[in-house]
Amino acid sequence: MQKKENWGTPFGAILAVTGSAVGLGNYLRFPGQAALYGGGAFMIPYITAFFLLGLPIAWAEWTIGRYAGIRGYNSAPGIFRCITGSRKMAYAGSICVSLTTLIFAYYVLVEGWCLLYAFRYLCGRMSAADTTQTFAAVSGVQTDGALFQNGLLNPTLLCMLVCFVFNFFLIYRGVVKGIEKFCFIAMPALLICSVIILIRVLTLGNPTGTEGQSVLNGLGYMWNPSQPGKTLIQTLSNPQAWIAAAGQIFFSLSLGMGCICTYASYSKRNDDIALSSLTAAVGNEFCEVVLAGLTIVPAAVIFLGASFFQENLNSSFSIGFNALPNVFALMPFGQFFGFLFFFLLFLAATTSSISMLQPGIALLEEGLKLSRKSSTAVMGVITFAGAVFTAYFTHNLTALDTLDFWCANILIFLMAGVQIVVFGWILGIGKGMEELERGAQIKIPAFYRFVMKYITPLYLIIVFLAWAYLKLPDYFGIIAGNAVVQMSLAYIAFVMIFNFFVTSQSLVRWEKDEKLEHGQNVADGEL
Ligand code: ALA
Repeated sequence: MQKKENWGTPFGAILAVTGSAVGLGNYLRFPGQAALYGGGAFMIPYITAFFLLGLPIAWAEWTIGRYAGIRGYNSAPGIFRCITGSRKMAYAGSICVSLTTLIFAYYVLVEGWCLLYAFRYLCGRMSAADTTQTFAAVSGVQTDGALFQNGLLNPTLLCMLVCFVFNFFLIYRGVVKGIEKFCFIAMPALLICSVIILIRVLTLGNPTGTEGQSVLNGLGYMWNPSQPGKTLIQTLSNPQAWIAAAGQIFFSLSLGMGCICTYASYSKRNDDIALSSLTAAVGNEFCEVVLAGLTIVPAAVIFLGASFFQENLNSSFSIGFNALPNVFALMPFGQFFGFLFFFLLFLAATTSSISMLQPGIALLEEGLKLSRKSSTAVMGVITFAGAVFTAYFTHNLTALDTLDFWCANILIFLMAGVQIVVFGWILGIGKGMEELERGAQIKIPAFYRFVMKYITPLYLIIVFLAWAYLKLPDYFGIIAGNAVVQMSLAYIAFVMIFNFFVTSQSLVRWEKDEKLEHGQNVADGEL
């Protein structure tokens, strides 16, 4: 049994989970995906995925997390083993730990870009003359090693380093003093920045005087179910829109990564996890659909026109770094709003990235009995290697995209599947629901028993198979012909092997501890 760490308050837990969820996915990935897959029409697969995948898996993660947390386990390997009693499931849990470690390695680089953009706006050094060139210089997209040409003096590297150290500083301070305290400050700040930007965009009218570029046109582009050349039926019959919607829900709610079950494991026995998870999920959707959805795409349409999206939606993050500086350049007080927006992104990214470190730290602490200092140091070395790798191989952002592809498309789906099976089939739907509703002020609708046991796993399988059929064949060709892709896969393999190894050592220790405890109980009983 480990020494138990708990959230300071249930509200702190909700803020931390919402913070983990609200991130670059909300403000950059969602608007890009929605614009790409038909605006309002995309909302149908998106909302379906929210109710049939997002909410059920969020409830499952919170439940298994708290169940194992009160029994002394906080890491996914510990949580899975605690519930299933199986060594194999502990190894499956180690994939969650790898997943968060890998996502952190590239997420911290993008976090660095946000910080650098915010800093440039603050100092009035953001030229609108050519935003594509600015982004190329900041990201080093034109050639590998571009960010290392002046040693460590490159501004992107310095910002990434600042983000890296800041994340580790927070995580080193622990769950209450680090994560919870930071989220108490960052989440309201993030909300205030978002609302100010939203009001600014919605009150713009038609600043350029160009036909088709008013606020209403912008909102129409984002929300109309039928776009020119893309009807509702066309979008709904495109399997990629359903796959993208499911992927977006997972990424955005931080599901399948093991962050939420680790965070939930710090809840107390009778905390209301049903309402907390619902609140966090709804809070995330509010930031994503309302705040980001009403701001980013409409702002780009107002200043750049809808045709911008036809040519510029090739990457998840392009809207934020390529389009929005153009928008701020044309907007009254653009420098201020530019700073506010990128600072908001930095805060949102940080509340997410700290949640990606906690699963690895928890495993090292409870599995190898490392101190907070040593586990932070070990995680620091592993993630630093990944971050430097991603920052070095920047040509066409191949390393970043490869890590993102495997994590956000494949591993998230697999691990979300494992979690819902652990909840619905191993813990059992009856016991799982009872556990979920203990201490809750809400009752989960009865039909969710059926949904969580059958529909969610089935939905996951269908979406995953459709994705594999449509995307994987092309990808094997890419692997064969690209050395950076191969090196990225080697880093993924290294992180996986490392976490398998830590899990194997943890298992030995847990089994030994349990034997000793059992022996002690027998001895006590005999006395
Ligand atoms: N949930 C986090 C995001 O949306 C990972 O960025």
